[in-house]
Amino acid sequence: GRRKKRPVRVYMDGCFDMMHYGHCNALRQAHALGDELVVGVVSDAEITANKGPPVTPINERLIMVGAVKWVDEVIPDAPYAITEEFMNRLFNEYNIDYIIHGDDPCLLPDGTDAYALAKKAGRYKQIKRTEGVSSTDIVGRMLLCVRERSSGDHHTHSSLQRQFSHGHGPIDDGGSPRGGTRISHFLPTSRRIVQFSNGKSPDPNARIIYIDGAFDLFHAGSNRGAHRPIMNLHERSLSVLACRYVDEVIIGAPKEISKDMITTFNISLVVHGTIAENMDYIKEKSNPYAVPMDMGIFQIIESPLDITTSTIIRRIVANHEAY
Ligand code: CTP
Repeated sequence: GRRKKRPVRVYMDGCFDMMHYGHCNALRQAHALGDELVVGVVSDAEITANKGPPVTPINERLIMVGAVKWVDEVIPDAPYAITEEFMNRLFNEYNIDYIIHGDDPCLLPDGTDAYALAKKAGRYKQIKRTEGVSSTDIVGRMLLCVRERSSGDHHTHSSLQRQFSHGHGPIDDGGSPRGGTRISHFLPTSRRIVQFSNGKSPDPNARIIYIDGAFDLFHAGSNRGAHRPIMNLHERSLSVLACRYVDEVIIGAPKEISKDMITTFNISLVVHGTIAENMDYIKEKSNPYAVPMDMGIFQIIESPLDITTSTIIRRIVANHEAY
């Protein structure tokens, strides 16, 4: 008889701080190298010891990684470097076949390669790092946002920049002479959208639930942002598409939900979280949810966490002040 082949299990680790679609794309490529993807999320203490404190605490980073549709299992207390002991645990306890990382050098504080042992054991594979996005770059974009609002504190900016450079080079401010624009260096392609999409049309009897938002800095409590977005529309669309709870994305959804839209997309229910950057919509004369409310298909859902994009920006500034 034919024996069923054991699934190939691959392991990818990372900090996944301020999770972005570059991380999601790494997880997608890692999953494609095997059948099952196990992800090690590095602990707060290990990140602090190796490159300074993370912006997002472990509980939020675990929610983010676990919500990515290519992730099958999560190890919540992964070390920063693959030690002999941890590598044996991966092989024996987790049945891992390959350890995967992006093609950027990952150096320990002493200058040695964090994956040297895995490479020596012949169990290392590489994926292509996604150009045009990094946590450092996102912090840079946020700082420009803060600087624009607070008449430009150059001292704060330059020391924050140092703190977040983590050996990945200086923060790119978009290259404008005043450094005042937030340019994304990401080139959106239709293929990338296809890679992130499930490509399926809904079952004719499916109950379609609609939720809207800016989903800027897609985080564990994601909701609408009141300020100008830090991530552009394509970047935000990819982040939302990578989420396992999402089946389809309307890229550039209108603010107001019309009767037409409800019919076209066969929407059964429109939901909105309790936590949002701006909850004034209910009072507004031009309530964007007036149509679904009148139809009796609008529902408020309890937001699981009370963080918004502003919380993340405040944390970065606070992190810096405590430094
Ligand atoms: N990664 C990637 N593309 C990016 C950023 C990260 O492919 N633009 C990959 C890394 O190579 C790694 C995984 O994502 O395999 C988890 O990375 P993490 O430790 O969080 O990565 P950093 O390199 O620190 O990412 P960033 O600089 O954005 O914080």
